[in-house]
Amino acid sequence: MLSQFEKVSAAVEFIRARAEVAPSIGIVLGSGLGLFAEKVSDAAIIPFSEVPHFPQSTVPGHSGRLVLGTLHGVSVAVTQGRVHGYEGYSPEEVAFPVRVLGGLGIRTLVVTNAAGGIRTDLKQGDLVLISDHINFTQRNPIAGQHDERFGARFFDMSEAYAKRLRGLAAATARKQGMDLPEGVYLCVLGPSFETPAEIRAFRALGADLVGMSTVQEVIAARQMGIEVLGISCVTNMAAGIQCEPLSHEEVIETGHRVAQKFTGLLTALIPVLKEETAKA
Ligand code: HPA
Repeated sequence: MLSQFEKVSAAVEFIRARAEVAPSIGIVLGSGLGLFAEKVSDAAIIPFSEVPHFPQSTVPGHSGRLVLGTLHGVSVAVTQGRVHGYEGYSPEEVAFPVRVLGGLGIRTLVVTNAAGGIRTDLKQGDLVLISDHINFTQRNPIAGQHDERFGARFFDMSEAYAKRLRGLAAATARKQGMDLPEGVYLCVLGPSFETPAEIRAFRALGADLVGMSTVQEVIAARQMGIEVLGISCVTNMAAGIQCEPLSHEEVIETGHRVAQKFTGLLTALIPVLKEETAKA
C-alpha cells in the first residue's frame, strides 16, 4: 500500500507533467467563491478526477478542479472546490490537496470558506480575516503513523494564521475602502447546521465564526512550514441569531453575491503577499 507521502508525490509529479508551474502561493476557494479562479492567466485547468489519489468533491458549489497559472505575474495554484470530513473523507484525505500544493512548492496558503457568523456585529456578506481557529472536530490529519517528510509530529500552532499576512490583508482591504474585521473560526464536522444551543456554547468558547472546513488544511500546511492566511465569507448568521432556518442554498447564494468583492480583495492581495514574503 502506498503511503500518504507517496500518493502526494504521485499527484505532484502528475501535475508537473501537465503544467510547467512553480507556484509560490496556493489558494483554496470555498463554497460559492470559485469566481476568483477565472482571474488566473495562462491557466492550466486540471479536474481533480484526473489527478492520481485526489479526493473528489461531492457537494454542489464545489467544482473540483485545480487551476494553475499567474495572477499579476505571480505564479499561483488554485483549488476550486474542496472535500470535507462530512462527506466521509478522513482528515488525511481532506488535507491531501494542500499537501499537494505544498509539494508543488507553495510557501503561502490562502484558505477561504463560507461560515456562519456567531458574533452579532458581523453581517451576512461580510468578509472576515481568520485570526485563529478552534478545532471542534477533534480530528487531525497528522494523527496516525508519523511521516517526517511532511514535517515534525509536534509543531507549534500559536500563530496558525500569520499575523504578518493578516496585517498585509487588512492594509490591502483598507486601500479598497473595505472593512476586514478579524474573528476566531470554529470547525464542526457537519453536515447538519448547528442548534442554537450549540451556537451559544461556541460563543462562550470564544468563537466568532462557525464552519465545516479549513482547519485540517491549515494544520497540514503548518506542519509543512507554509504560512497561512484565512478569509471567511459570512454567508449567514449562525443558528438562533435570526429567525430564518439555515440552508445550503443561502450559503451558495451569499457566496455568489459577495464573489465580486471577495475576488477584488484577493486579486489585489496576491502581488502584495508575494512581494512582502520575498522581502521577509
Ligand atoms: N454553520 C456551519 N457551516 C457553515 C455555516 C453555518 O452556519 N454557514 C456556512 N458554513
